[in-house]
Amino acid sequence: MGAAKSLSKKIVEDQPGLTAKSSYLGLATRDLADWVSRLDAVPTLPVVAMKVNEHLASNRSSAQSIAELLRQDIALSSRILRLVNSSYYAIPGGVADVRKAITFLGFQTIAQLILGLSVFSVFEKSASAELSLHEFWKFAMTSAALTEKLARAVGYQQPEVAYTAGLLQDLGKLALITMAPEPMAKMLRWVKSTRTHVCIGEKEWSLPRHEEVGENLANRWKLPPEIVGVIAHHHDEIKELGGDLKSQQLLACVQLANHTVTEMHWGSSGSVTVAGTAKEVLIEFLNLDQSWWLRNQAEFETEREKVEVLLNAYL
Ligand SMILES: [Fe+2]
Repeated sequence: MGAAKSLSKKIVEDQPGLTAKSSYLGLATRDLADWVSRLDAVPTLPVVAMKVNEHLASNRSSAQSIAELLRQDIALSSRILRLVNSSYYAIPGGVADVRKAITFLGFQTIAQLILGLSVFSVFEKSASAELSLHEFWKFAMTSAALTEKLARAVGYQQPEVAYTAGLLQDLGKLALITMAPEPMAKMLRWVKSTRTHVCIGEKEWSLPRHEEVGENLANRWKLPPEIVGVIAHHHDEIKELGGDLKSQQLLACVQLANHTVTEMHWGSSGSVTVAGTAKEVLIEFLNLDQSWWLRNQAEFETEREKVEVLLNAYL
């Protein structure tokens, strides 16, 4: 927690009031503040998910506290049970209650599932012809699964958090589609026709950066600082960022997972290219030798089927 804080601290120092990045973009501070105020239009995270965030932040979370929180939201509990009983997790014989699910998967995994599912539920009615939610979540879930796999491979201490970071990195896009569906539709059509990246499209169409919007929303929702850091920086060059090694390691896992999922043409986050650090640089940064990479790339492909199963349990 402390390690990730330093990246978050840097974010605060680097962009007090978000002015630094807005001037870089040519977007007036007033305009950006206006965009941020429009986040009021985005529904709040379910109460249980907010409480889970508070528990995780205070290190008070335990299997019992998570199970008790979930008891307050029957609908969310039943969706969690549907997820954990899917073949993605393959719990022998299945489980009938959350407490047993925690026994098999651990409270960290369940807590991260609660966060992911809650965000999904906030945006499940956000429709965009230019960015299908099915394709969006397919990309996000595969990226999340690969981020977790990479995090485990490089010894990152909280692989479950890595999953959520991969899953929610593009939170800002969902918020922007909700707040400004027409401008976003135009921008996404342009990105598709020019085969550029959403980051370029946002600049071209005078939209705020989705990383900035996502960071603001994630802070409003009190998401864990490690996840806020990834949302804010997932398109930045890894070597240009400050912060501690652990935070950079997490960000590198997310970016490398993005490269892989984009190359697989699996789902869509709106872009057909990747913005951020080059793949070779990330592999080197994470000390993953080429043979490890080749061995595991085949395994990454199998994640597709598992993600499809999980996605069906979400929908
Ligand atoms: Fe992004």
